[in-house]
Amino acid sequence: MILVTGGAGYIGSHTVLTLLEAGQDVLVLDNFCNANKKSLERVSALTGREVPWVEGDIRDAALLDDVFSQHEIDSVIHFAGLKAVGESVQKPLDYFDNNVNGTLVLCSAMSRADVKKIVFSSSATVYGDPASVPIRENFPTAATNPYGRSKLMVEEILQDLAVSDPQWRISVLRYFNPVGAHDSGMIGEDPNGIPNNLVPFVSQVAIGRREVLSVFGNDYDTTDGTGVRDYIHVTDLAKGHLMALDYLSRHDGVHTFNLGTGKGYSVLEVVQAFEKASDRKVAYEFHPRRAGDIARCYADPAHAEEVLGWTAEFDIEKMMVDTWRWQQKNPNGYSDSTLS
Ligand code: NAD
Ligand code: UFG
Repeated sequence: MILVTGGAGYIGSHTVLTLLEAGQDVLVLDNFCNANKKSLERVSALTGREVPWVEGDIRDAALLDDVFSQHEIDSVIHFAGLKAVGESVQKPLDYFDNNVNGTLVLCSAMSRADVKKIVFSSSATVYGDPASVPIRENFPTAATNPYGRSKLMVEEILQDLAVSDPQWRISVLRYFNPVGAHDSGMIGEDPNGIPNNLVPFVSQVAIGRREVLSVFGNDYDTTDGTGVRDYIHVTDLAKGHLMALDYLSRHDGVHTFNLGTGKGYSVLEVVQAFEKASDRKVAYEFHPRRAGDIARCYADPAHAEEVLGWTAEFDIEKMMVDTWRWQQKNPNGYSDSTLS
């Protein structure tokens, strides 16, 4: 059985669905600080399988000991954490406590239970402002905010852990920009309050929840002056976890992979693709650059393809069509959705 921390969240719920469809058994551990239980009910409805879950915090060592002693867990996929870059600047202690201390408590409990296989959610943010693109896994790492530093710290902790004990099998997955939703439109991203990220914001403008998108900067050295990112469909990302876990069944040590498509799209290209998918206009206006943003960031995903056999299947059109389906079926996210 696979313990999925943060399994009720955006990427977690899609991964739980993929795991269940592949015939795996899972147990979700989530404190629901940024998730709705409906996501798990919907995964259950979509798969026709029960989704067992425990409400609790990864920083609760006693709870983790109970979880590991009561269930036959052989591996962990670790999504739980806080992820808002701006908020991390305001609340660094919360971010280090949740993301770094949380992972320490989790790994210690795993060690006590002799469960030494873990897939960790890292981020392309660990590359800072890369000297060139596409980005390979051996590029220098750097962090420009507490969120990014928390990811880098955990990566380093996991490296040290593997050196200390060769039984550990660890996969570090560096996600580029996850977007989209399951193509049923039943699960998707449901940000609290005003979305920080581009695609949820664009989607809320299209549905009429927000008036206008602020495009942060049109003076970057890119094709149209707006920022370029590697958007990746969340279902492709989910599949990457399954393949990483499978790889760990055959290999020890730490294995780090970029999960991206290798293609970069500008903010205006994303807006255009969304307008096409939704057949709605997305009003936007230019604003100054957002602090900490970089001009371009996209992956060289060749390592994941060579080693895991993983490649992204879905293109930007599908990412936008699926986001729009989710948005239309759930205009206000999970909270007051009329779907069961
Ligand atoms: P999310 O907020 O939707 O999911 C995180 C889940 O963890 C939520 O369900 C939340 O309730 C839970 N959680 C948070 N702290 C917890 C704790 N202490 N104990 C138990 N549960 C806790 O975010 P997501 O987009 O699904 O991201 C999942 C992981 O991927 C995170 O670690 C995030 O940093 C990483 N990541 C996300 C992105 C992105 O753009 N979405 C990019 C790169 C990396
Ligand atoms: N953008 C806008 N307007 C908005 C939001 C974003 O113009 O309202 C622009 C940004 O300036 C950037 C692009 O859209 O050029 C993408 O921005 P996002 O906020 O969607 O994503 P980021 O690339 O800034 O960061 C995301 C996650 C990070 C993660 C990183 C790399 O938020 O947590 O991808 O994985 F670290």
